Amino acid sequence: MNHRDHTPTPPPALRRFLAEHNPPTPCLVVDTDTVVARYRALVAAFPQARIQYAVKANPAHEVLQGLAEEGAWFDVASPAEIDLCLAAGSEGHTLSYGNTIKKPADIAHAHAAGVAEYTCEAGSDLHAIAAHAPGAQVSVRLLVDPPDSATPFGRKFGCSPALATDLLVEAAELGLDPVGVSIHVGSQQQDPDAWDGAIASAASVFTETAARGVQLRRLNIGGGLATSYRRPAPDPADYAAAIGRSLRTHFPDGEPELVVEPGRAIVAEAGLIRAEVVLVSRKDPHDDHRWVYLDIGRYNGLAETENEAITYPVEPVDPRGGPDGPVILAGPTCDGDDVLYQRTRYRLPESLRAGDRIDILAAGAYTASYSSVAFNGIPPLRTYCIREGRPTGAD
Ligand SMILES: Cc1ncc(COP(=O)(O)O)c(C=O)c1O
Repeated sequence: MNHRDHTPTPPPALRRFLAEHNPPTPCLVVDTDTVVARYRALVAAFPQARIQYAVKANPAHEVLQGLAEEGAWFDVASPAEIDLCLAAGSEGHTLSYGNTIKKPADIAHAHAAGVAEYTCEAGSDLHAIAAHAPGAQVSVRLLVDPPDSATPFGRKFGCSPALATDLLVEAAELGLDPVGVSIHVGSQQQDPDAWDGAIASAASVFTETAARGVQLRRLNIGGGLATSYRRPAPDPADYAAAIGRSLRTHFPDGEPELVVEPGRAIVAEAGLIRAEVVLVSRKDPHDDHRWVYLDIGRYNGLAETENEAITYPVEPVDPRGGPDGPVILAGPTCDGDDVLYQRTRYRLPESLRAGDRIDILAAGAYTASYSSVAFNGIPPLRTYCIREGRPTGAD
């Protein structure tokens, strides 16, 4: 057993598929029924909101198709993600271009595909939207300062409330439809109250913009809802209660249309990575720790282990019994950064040896989509999707 205080239970269909098909490792298996169940749980927790799945978390065709069939909308970050959504059966008007970093040609592509809404944070992007997506709905991303999350955005995205107000007023002058404000309080955000300051800041933009004759109507509170990895995450209802309180406090005269844009919270728990131990090495006979090198690492699926930000639960598939001992987990490449966990305590059986298999749980989000194309000649992480217990094809 690992040292941890929470063990997520993977959807049983995942291990049944692996037992029947025994695909080569490493691979990610995603249960699309669980994806849909997670989406429905968020719809139930936020009944007044539009739920937009952040495609970047896992763009597998079957994931997008399952969500499109449920009526989900999608947050897209690039022309390629737009095309994936359309191929999965969604319509252009259900896609929202949430990435504030885009080229004029990307906007033109999105407009041709029917994408109706664009998020921006700078005048040049706003002008490009006006030129290449005339009349489009525009939101402005606010720079926010939330409590730390596991993978924070720092100061990369958004602008100040003052600039946001200027941009939204200018959007109206350019013939665009300034719909509102978008925020994100960092991915894997464990604190349901983390949205409060950002919602207050968004409300101030609504007030200032209205004073200049432009009425906003929509607030996109981003993603950030956490997944239970080795520590339990709050329930969607806990987030909804805290966010609802903030909305009532900061929008006392009437709440805006709400958009929630989760990626991780929809797909992480639906996925499991099966990997193989390539080498077990003790650097010195007196060293307590063994280094366990897996056939998956930082570059072929586990990018979010950078700074040990996301600590996946790890389980041996066929443990032989006997005592556990401390391990350092590392990936397979000839690269010094390809170490998964040195500070975070992990324990695995002393009997573990090369060829044994390991399951990495709650691994459906930000794994395959982050995998490099061929670093060290290692292919990208392969995804198998299953539905009603049966495989639906591989990416
Ligand atoms: C604009 C935007 N929306 C939503 C998300 C999804 O966030 P999460 O996976 O934490 O729910 C992201 C993640 O990077 C994002 O950039």
